[in-house]
Amino acid sequence: MKLLPSLLALCLSVATQLVYAAPVDEGQSLGLPRSFKDVIIDTDFLSFTDDVGALAVANTLQNLGRVRILGIVSDVQSRFAVPGIDAIDTWYCNPDIPFAQSQPVTNQIDEVNNTAPEYITTLANPALFPEDIHDGSNKTVQDPLTFYRTVLQRAKGKSITIIGIGFLTHLNQLYQSPGGKELIRDKVAELIIQGGDFGPNFFGPGPNRAGYNLLIDLQAAKVLEEWPSPVTFLPSDVGRNVTSGQVLENTPKNNPIRVANEIYHKGTQIGDGSWDILATYYSILGIDEGSFRYGNTGGQIRIFDNGTAAWDFNAYVPYERRQHFLNLRQSNETVAQKLNNLLAFYGERKPACR
Ligand SMILES: *[C@@H]1O[C@H](CO)[C@@H](O)[C@H](O)[C@H]1NC(C)=O
Ligand SMILES: *[C@@H]1O[C@H](CO)[C@@H](O)[C@H](O)[C@H]1NC(C)=O
Ligand SMILES: *[C@@H]1O[C@H](CO)[C@@H](O)[C@H](O)[C@H]1NC(C)=O
Ligand SMILES: *[C@@H]1O[C@H](CO)[C@@H](O)[C@H](O)[C@H]1NC(C)=O
Ligand SMILES: *[C@@H]1O[C@H](CO)[C@@H](O)[C@H](O)[C@H]1NC(C)=O
Repeated sequence: MKLLPSLLALCLSVATQLVYAAPVDEGQSLGLPRSFKDVIIDTDFLSFTDDVGALAVANTLQNLGRVRILGIVSDVQSRFAVPGIDAIDTWYCNPDIPFAQSQPVTNQIDEVNNTAPEYITTLANPALFPEDIHDGSNKTVQDPLTFYRTVLQRAKGKSITIIGIGFLTHLNQLYQSPGGKELIRDKVAELIIQGGDFGPNFFGPGPNRAGYNLLIDLQAAKVLEEWPSPVTFLPSDVGRNVTSGQVLENTPKNNPIRVANEIYHKGTQIGDGSWDILATYYSILGIDEGSFRYGNTGGQIRIFDNGTAAWDFNAYVPYERRQHFLNLRQSNETVAQKLNNLLAFYGERKPACR
């Protein structure tokens, strides 16, 4: 008889858990696989719009229960970058995602000698967009190496996916730091890099085939030749081939993603290549989601001092650090539609925060 109350309690608690363990899965309507990852986003968020779109997609997928963003590393030193990103996270109801930033903090406002259309000071203006970091020099913003080491040391097993949509500076620092190689090998499930261009003509035309993100710190990017975890590249030619973002015009006028795109495109129609957005989408949802296929079965990247990067198809690479580059499996129109569905997921409303 004494058993009964506890049995009853157990039944009640199981029933309660059943009710709460099965919330409506809004991602199902978008056909999202039921996968879940822990990620770090390493970004050069400053003046291009694909980093902005990538953060929109990552935040939306977090709200849909597909990912937990453990932190965001800013590779640019601008004091406006971190508050700009925090404004986006806050809009999406994720105001407490931790930050690390490349030091020292500067007054830079765009990536092209302060001449490109500049949205960063608008997003970082707390009178327009609520956020609580206020400035990249805020003490709550860590240095990238400490941040990476702390997160990886705490992680259980190979559980961390790194979304590399910025420069390689801090990933190289991590690799070079004492025990860094082992930490990466033991804790990183996959590193995804937006960079390279491995189409049929990858040695031409032009000297920039490594792509912008790799070129900015080319010596650091060479770490990719020996990076101890699996690496997957979203090449620049694939990113360029998928135009997304026009749908932002159907979202609120004060949506920071829309505002950044409108400023950047200055009166012309918004919508652009999807480099970092695709890389982020793949990073979180994986190859089985169906948009992509691998462009290679073996080999690895090679990066040269003249700024080119090529795929060495004949290199022997151990399975633990296998490398792939992505191609589209579905049509670019289909994949663009999926990105647009996420960019405009909340339609004409701001996401409702609890
Ligand atoms: C930026 O300025 C540097 C130094 O003045 C110059 O070499 C470079 O060409 C400029 N870049 C662009 C894209 O204008
Ligand atoms: C620094 O950021 C924290 C939130 O992470 C915020 O509470 C605090 O007010 C900020 N400090 C300054 C000086 O803005
Ligand atoms: C860059 O260097 C590589 C390796 O030496 C070479 O194969 C390639 O043709 C060079 N590319 C350009 C544009 O000079
Ligand atoms: C798909 O690719 C074709 C050919 O490259 C291009 O003309 C078209 O604009 C692309 N569509 C999208 C949505 O990116
Ligand atoms: C661009 O998209 C078109 C249409 O889907 C496709 O045929 C082509 O292979 C794509 N090119 C690249 C580089 O992804």
